[in-house]
Amino acid sequence: MTEPLNPNNAPYCIEFHDVVAGYKDFMILNNLSFSVRAGSITLLIGPNGAGKSTVLKTLFGLLKPRQGCIRLDGRDITGTAPSALLAQGIAFVPQGRNLFGKLSVYENLELGGITLGMKTARERIPEVLELFPRVKERLHSRAASLSGGEQKQLEVGRALLLRPRVMLIDEPSIGLSPIVVQDVFKLLRKLADQGTTVLMVEQNVKSALRYADDAIALESGRLVLHKPAEAVLADPNMERLFLGGAHLGEPAQPSDTAFI
Ligand SMILES: Nc1ncnc2c1ncn2[C@@H]1O[C@H](COP(=O)(O)OP(=O)(O)OP(=O)(O)O)[C@@H](O)[C@H]1O
Ligand SMILES: [Mg+2]
Repeated sequence: MTEPLNPNNAPYCIEFHDVVAGYKDFMILNNLSFSVRAGSITLLIGPNGAGKSTVLKTLFGLLKPRQGCIRLDGRDITGTAPSALLAQGIAFVPQGRNLFGKLSVYENLELGGITLGMKTARERIPEVLELFPRVKERLHSRAASLSGGEQKQLEVGRALLLRPRVMLIDEPSIGLSPIVVQDVFKLLRKLADQGTTVLMVEQNVKSALRYADDAIALESGRLVLHKPAEAVLADPNMERLFLGGAHLGEPAQPSDTAFI
């Protein structure tokens, strides 16, 4: 099954068609095709090294596909530079820490909004800070002095300053306490309900699936599953799948989840 159910015929916001991409001589994504419905949360899962971050980097123009085509709202964006994609409303929160540690929280937010012009960026900063009260309290502290969770919130806030139509977010839960993780997922759910399309990589799969609409699983850069999140949550083989054990010879339980 290559497409999740799409009962309301929602338009596709993101489409990968036979994308081949990699680093130097190593091809990581192998003829990868999938579509993401506008205004949905799609969770990208799979074992370490499966190519999840590579999908986001390729979509955000940090990696040029060798073959294939990527579409945003039906328009071909293959090979478009990140700066142009930002201007088209795609925001990317990469894996790991991505702040200017020596600059203040406020300065990090200003820089996040640099493509908007300083006046607009400054006007929008208060609305973002309302979402993250702990970050607001530390507005003039150096970003590096924030806790890990606060830093991730600041990164998400910095991306939200752009009021993105598409939010690409790679492992937001790393280093966050369970409560903050839930807060981030809830915020993403709210954004999606308001029309933002979210493509998220997350190892905290069980929890993330409760907030997601669809799940895509990758193995060695290939699509092995694309299903509604609810169906994956209900599947008895879920644990095997998420631990990367699928196809490794463990006895399978009777399952609704078809691998392709
Ligand atoms: N800059 C790079 N140069 C060469 N190889 C890379 C580079 N970045 C990633 N890779 C390789 O590409 C493969 C896929 O990496 P990727 O980061 O997309 O995996 P991932 O699914 O996000 O894994 P993880 O769950 O560990 O974050 C891995 O084998 C990785 O070593
Ligand atoms: Mg990764």
